Amino acid sequence: MATSYKELGLVNTKELFAKAVKGGYALPAYNFNNMEQLQAIIQACVETKSPVILQVSAGARKYANATLLRYMAQGAVAYAKELGYAIPIVLHLDHGDSLELVKSCVESGFSSVMIDGSHLPYEDNIKLTKAVVDYAHGQKDYVTVEGELGVLAGIEDDVVAEHSSYTKPAEVIDFVKRTGVDSLAISIGTSHGAVKFKREQCTVSPDGVLIPPTLRFDILEEIEKKLPGFPIVLHGSSSVPIEHVRTLEKFGGKLKDPVGIPEEQLRRAAKSAVCKINIDSDGRLAMTAAIRKVFAESPAEFDPRKYLGPARDSLKALYAHKNREVLGSANQA
Ligand code: G3H
Ligand code: 13P
Ligand code: ZN
Repeated sequence: MATSYKELGLVNTKELFAKAVKGGYALPAYNFNNMEQLQAIIQACVETKSPVILQVSAGARKYANATLLRYMAQGAVAYAKELGYAIPIVLHLDHGDSLELVKSCVESGFSSVMIDGSHLPYEDNIKLTKAVVDYAHGQKDYVTVEGELGVLAGIEDDVVAEHSSYTKPAEVIDFVKRTGVDSLAISIGTSHGAVKFKREQCTVSPDGVLIPPTLRFDILEEIEKKLPGFPIVLHGSSSVPIEHVRTLEKFGGKLKDPVGIPEEQLRRAAKSAVCKINIDSDGRLAMTAAIRKVFAESPAEFDPRKYLGPARDSLKALYAHKNREVLGSANQA
């Protein structure tokens, strides 16, 4: 039996995006695949009174199990209430690659999906995206759809791009009209993972920190002019905070040339047409750094709660900071 997201207490992105565009802030879209991440997201978003998009990739769904995820999302709604504030919660498929996957997610309670046809030729992207929109909008409870135009650089488990290309503003009106998507992810220089730029693309600060090139705000502004008031999404928006990188490295971790998107650029984007900002890598980084610290400092510790607990606290602090200081989503629930 299919489950509608409304039965789980979830909402789609429609009204949340309309409010965010008007209010000049972005909704956090945090990826998760386990209980501690979910606890941290809900704790941080309740504390900051922020709406939230819980984001699940195909890989995360496989890892966590689709049935468990459904109950975790339902549990998240109840948990927020128990913590004292019923924030709006969206369950969103991240980087969906087929109508079959979208159907399976919608049937198990997702309220929003991304169909990522950005690697396909333009007309194929339109065809796939439109098929997903027809299906999602045709449900008894309207499921919102995010499409993507332009290719991000970067490599993750299931999200791989060797060659990036910026979104062409000339295409956005046609794409949105012909597909009927509710929001559009664009490529303006962000990328997935903790190494977002090559060293030679960056300048280096006196203390050795890589400073990346500025995002292409000119492209964002052109798109905004063509689609006034239309919700734009930024993927690959982790900042790769230096304090977490340093902790990770201090306790044995190694990353080659980590560099993210500076917070002030994300703040600027959030004030514009960008109303959803995707963050996964920063969570991974904060969590792993905290776990490494416990392992290094307390080698006799083997109760998972003793290292997952501090990791969860570190995650919560990271998300609360983003909601308050970067996305502007605090006090918008
Ligand atoms: O954009 C991709 C997300 O960070 C998900 O990554 O496929 O490794 O779960 P994943
Ligand atoms: P980061 O790798 O920058 O966290 O981006 C995550 C993302 O775009 C998920 O879709
Ligand atoms: Zn992404």
